[in-house]
Amino acid sequence: MPKYVLTGVGGNIGSTAASYALEIAPPDTTLVFTTSDPTKIPTQTLESWRAKGATLSAASYDAIESLKAVFAGAEAVNLISTWAFGRRHEQAQNVIDAAKACGVQRICYTSFVGADDPAPVNEMPFLPRDHKNTEALIRASGLEYNIQRDYLYIDNIPSFFAPSWKSCGNRWIFNSHDVPGAYVAREDCGRVHAALLLGRGKPNTVYDVTGPEAVTDRQVFQWICSEFGDKGEFIDMPDEELREYWVQRGLPTDISEPSPLPMKLCVDDLLCCGEMVARGYMAETSNAVESLTGHKPLSFQETLLGYKHAFS
Ligand SMILES: NC(=O)c1ccc[n+]([C@@H]2O[C@H](COP(=O)([O-])OP(=O)(O)OC[C@H]3O[C@@H](n4cnc5c(N)ncnc54)[C@H](OP(=O)(O)O)[C@@H]3O)[C@@H](O)[C@H]2O)c1
Repeated sequence: MPKYVLTGVGGNIGSTAASYALEIAPPDTTLVFTTSDPTKIPTQTLESWRAKGATLSAASYDAIESLKAVFAGAEAVNLISTWAFGRRHEQAQNVIDAAKACGVQRICYTSFVGADDPAPVNEMPFLPRDHKNTEALIRASGLEYNIQRDYLYIDNIPSFFAPSWKSCGNRWIFNSHDVPGAYVAREDCGRVHAALLLGRGKPNTVYDVTGPEAVTDRQVFQWICSEFGDKGEFIDMPDEELREYWVQRGLPTDISEPSPLPMKLCVDDLLCCGEMVARGYMAETSNAVESLTGHKPLSFQETLLGYKHAFS
């Protein structure tokens, strides 16, 4: 009875991974799900997971003993990157140390496109920096690994960007400079994560997880306007001008400071999303989604149709 521990089931990737793991797991599999906050899991979701044989425990990347308590006897465990910028390497080290102490053989990690950038970390774009460090910790651990480098989720557009369009005068002001990028559906990343945890990946392999085609933000915005009847304008702005625009409006430059604006990303995070696309990090597509899940990756249109409420 192989045992797999899926941590972080309270998040988007984690909850999709949990449901998909239950769908694809062979009958003799033991699935243990963990979350740092069990109260976050909707009762119905928890009941449906339990009905299919999974158990749920509380465990936190910040508390190594809580991880050891669930990792014992597991063949593989996972690590989902958190929003704890600056502390992510400590959380990763806790997961690695707990896994090694419990004799776990393999670790799966949700990394980010660009984590293999050969530049020194402090010269890399903001977002992949922590991931490069975490990947290095994983490689140095001696554990077998599967790393998925997720491209930017297409879901970021309705979740993080669209809420600010109205307050910007019905404009999406962005800095991807009309370079196409293969945005991925977050759901596909979640399914890939489960597939890797359950051993569908090759040992010590990194997968770029991408959407089916590279598209420009302008194309995506035009599709949103025509599909949902939004009347807006897409403005491509030079990076420094965009930074200035948001700083002047009071968007925090420090990631730990909550934003008082409808735009919830901090300045560096927001700027880096455009930068990742503009610098061509997301130009190529991969077959990771299809090879690991057996399904073609969702198109941006298929994903955005589920976010009608976010546009109007
Ligand atoms: N590629 C992209 O475009 C993109 C966009 C946004 C974010 N991200 C990154 O990808 C990650 C996953 O995305 P998401 O949409 O699933 O994020 P999310 O819904 O915000 O989930 C955050 C994840 O962090 C876990 N977590 C937080 N604190 C924890 C702790 N102390 N111990 C254990 N787990 C902890 C949560 O698990 P529990 O709540 O169950 O503990 C959850 O799995 C994010 O956390 C972020 O690092 C990527």
